[in-house]
Amino acid sequence: MKIALGADHGGVNLKDRLVEFLASKGHEVADLGAYSLEPEDDYPDFAARVAGAVQNGQAERGILICGSGVGASVAANKVKGVRAAVCHDCFSAHQGVEDDDMNVLCLGARVIGEEAAKEVVERFVGARFSGAARHLRRLNKVRQMEKDSR
Ligand code: RB5
Repeated sequence: MKIALGADHGGVNLKDRLVEFLASKGHEVADLGAYSLEPEDDYPDFAARVAGAVQNGQAERGILICGSGVGASVAANKVKGVRAAVCHDCFSAHQGVEDDDMNVLCLGARVIGEEAAKEVVERFVGARFSGAARHLRRLNKVRQMEKDSR
């Protein structure tokens, strides 16, 4: 799977570990930065890169990491077609894809450790949207909200 990753200073170290991890599992990984620890960098810049890659189809999924995961998810959800959520447990990580077609996973490196993050990421990338009628109905309502917003 083509997966884009990005992180600010709060998540860059975990991002580097997850890039290695996903590549070792055979995924095509795009590391969209940060490429070094810059305490003054800003999570919206990396959210824009990763969400943009998902929106334009360069990546099928995105993973964003900041300190809490919250800022990254708020920013990523501003990009049309992106459905981002913070998940620090395996159930949410796979069900978010299966039911809600979540396409960007957000993690907080100050919340979750490396090994738990790897498990959450594996469940996220291993999951597929079910396409069940009730979930499609809900997804279409979300898409309509996106169209209606100004
Ligand atoms: C940056 O220090 C921190 O605020 C950021 O990484 C993130 O946690 C925002 O939600």
